[in-house]
Amino acid sequence: MKLKYIGKTKDVYELEDGNYLLKFKDDVTGEDGVFDPGANAVGLSIEGMGQSGLKLTTFFFERFKEMKIPTHYIKSNIKEGTMTVLPATFFGNGVEVICRYKAVGSFIRRYGMYAEEGQELDAYVEVTLKDDDRNDPLITDEGLEMLKIMTKEEYKLLVDLTRKISGIIKEELSKKDLELYDIKLEFGRVGKDSHIALIDEISGGNMRVYKSGKYIEPLQLEKIFLNE
Ligand SMILES: Nc1ncnc2c1ncn2[C@@H]1O[C@H](COP(=O)(O)OP(=O)(O)OP(=O)(O)O)[C@@H](O)[C@H]1O
Ligand SMILES: [Mg+2]
Repeated sequence: MKLKYIGKTKDVYELEDGNYLLKFKDDVTGEDGVFDPGANAVGLSIEGMGQSGLKLTTFFFERFKEMKIPTHYIKSNIKEGTMTVLPATFFGNGVEVICRYKAVGSFIRRYGMYAEEGQELDAYVEVTLKDDDRNDPLITDEGLEMLKIMTKEEYKLLVDLTRKISGIIKEELSKKDLELYDIKLEFGRVGKDSHIALIDEISGGNMRVYKSGKYIEPLQLEKIFLNE
């Protein structure tokens, strides 16, 4: 097993058979000891966080498998805190796709002149480049094509997949009276045919979820959602 990448919240290993192993850690992103899913640095460490994130991730990836939605998921080992996945190649150095149902966070920081905090948004999708040094800048479909990161057709597919996947997650959460405000997804190309697939993780660290208007922290989210 070869260590490929040390991430902020996960380490990535290459297995003998060429698949990747994601090891979920207890580190979470934030600033000054306060959790912030949009932050680009590890702000604190919370015991049990890795395993908790893996449990939620596994729940959703299993769901997507049933629904034949393309992902990198192969299997999880909750006890070990690991998930075996297909190796993906990125769009450029990686993009993130955000789907918004309520105006909070960076949306309000950017468009606060025109939007009110908590205002309804109709599954608004935006794409950002993974570039910590430049604070993950937003990019348009034209920019993505011009910079040869992806074609307009791939962009459309990505947006459709994002709405579909986010909609399923929103629906699942609503069964537990949990409301999805926004979510960040990652996509890559996997398999021999390099098809577009959902990669990375689906955990509390990548979404904002509220219950009766109150923000639910990632660990709490997993407990409420998975009924532990
Ligand atoms: N199937 C996959 N194949 C290759 N890389 C993957 C796959 N799934 C996830 N990754 C990458 O593995 C890394 C996971 O580590 P982690 O989430 O901790 O990264 P990170 O610190 O958030 O850094 P990054 O800014 O790269 O996301 C991410 O870079 C993610 O894009
Ligand atoms: Mg990450």
